[in-house]
Amino acid sequence: MAIAKLAPNSRNLPNQLTLNDQPAHHGGEGSVYFTTDGQYAVKIYHRPASDKQRLLKQVLDLGRNLGDDERFLAWPLGIINEIDGEPTVGVVTRCVPPTHAPLYRFIYSPKDAIKQFGEGRSWLNYLKMARSTAAAVRTIHGKGMAHADIHLKNFLADPESGEVVLIDLDGLVVRGFLPPQVKGMPGFIAPEVLMAKAQPSELTDRHSAAVLILWILLLRNVMLTQTCIDEDDERHDDELGYGKFACFSEHPIERRNWISQIGIPLFRKGALSFRMLTPKLQALTEKALIEGLHEPSKRPQVIEWERALSEAYDALIGCPSCHQSFVYPYWLTPPLRQCPLCGSNVIPPFPAVLELLEPRSKGTLVALRTIVLYQGMPLFADVVEPGRLPPFTRRGSASIGQVAWETNERGYRLTNTGNDFWQLSSGERIKPGASVSLHKGAMINFGNDKRVMRVVL
Ligand SMILES: Nc1ncnc2c1ncn2[C@@H]1O[C@H](COP(=O)(O)OP(=O)(O)O)[C@@H](O)[C@H]1O
Ligand SMILES: [Mg+2]
Repeated sequence: MAIAKLAPNSRNLPNQLTLNDQPAHHGGEGSVYFTTDGQYAVKIYHRPASDKQRLLKQVLDLGRNLGDDERFLAWPLGIINEIDGEPTVGVVTRCVPPTHAPLYRFIYSPKDAIKQFGEGRSWLNYLKMARSTAAAVRTIHGKGMAHADIHLKNFLADPESGEVVLIDLDGLVVRGFLPPQVKGMPGFIAPEVLMAKAQPSELTDRHSAAVLILWILLLRNVMLTQTCIDEDDERHDDELGYGKFACFSEHPIERRNWISQIGIPLFRKGALSFRMLTPKLQALTEKALIEGLHEPSKRPQVIEWERALSEAYDALIGCPSCHQSFVYPYWLTPPLRQCPLCGSNVIPPFPAVLELLEPRSKGTLVALRTIVLYQGMPLFADVVEPGRLPPFTRRGSASIGQVAWETNERGYRLTNTGNDFWQLSSGERIKPGASVSLHKGAMINFGNDKRVMRVVL
């Protein structure tokens, strides 16, 4: 056991911590030790730069007002300046519980995901992990900082809850204030950084975050190079392949990194395509990795990813064959609506597709997102509340409606199971206990200031 002493100004930490003898992790920059009480993780630097303590102190101060979003981050809480009497530099963070493991364990290849699926997880758990990942990065960007080292080992994930915690925050970047200390991990680094045209920043984080989010969703590096450019020098080869010659694997014209498995169902040794994602997520992918690949300012902000990932919850359906969840591809014609994991066709009766609209000033309605409803599905109360995104989990969530297929009508009906009257565009009122047909064109108003839904399919 070693006794680590803390510099003053730490956040609610004791004056000293007792560390386990053996490190839990031995990295290039430092070794990570857990405290004997299991509460904290301490990274001790091998060869700290002379200004490391000062930089750490600034990072520490930046984390004082994170509020609720701190759950996505293992923020530095204190600085170690002595171990067993020897001067040392280290950083203390809360210990992320053992329910979490580095993201790569669950996403690195389809095999890892299939193992998780075998243990009861579904693609929805992956969507949740992607959402938490985006939320973690958005928190940092929202504070005017960049992480500069976003990759699949710096997030500890719990695939059960979908919760993800971002670690390795000691290298944060703030323009003109905290300089970049690392460059990132090959494969995630933005092209302009590899080409030595730019330093890590919020804009380069946007690239890394897009690559990571898509890796979680599609279980592959969508930028993976397929041809060798410099056979003699692997590092130079990476610099070119992810830098000057970087290319999205599903680029519509440049097929440099295309692989033939793309679009073949995952369970038949295929590779998932970004075309299985919601139209909004597809558009963000194109903005990030085609239009914005070499034009950083065109890359979407991470908060846009977070929103679109959250909204995708309400577009999922279950596969009757493999029992997985996937985005209902309502934008394709029926024979092309298939489960991307097992390849089974979606069979009639097809789910109902609705557009969710929100009232704004002067009586205008703004289209928000698409909702998919099917037999037995509740309509959750949050869906019609203005300003709300789907919550992280709907376990225990209140519902205000219930969907059922009516064979006689060859259509769905939505029953009002709440306490408020609904109103149709015809003026008809749907009292609690009554139901409304979800035929194409039907428009339901859920009450004063509530959202409106229009059946589109
Ligand atoms: N707060 C933490 N809670 C639990 N484990 C942690 C924590 N911080 C680091 N680790 C463990 O140490 C490993 C490396 O940590 P990291 O901060 O990323 O160091 P490095 O600079 O070597 O990349 C992680 O993969 C994880 O296993
Ligand atoms: Mg790390």
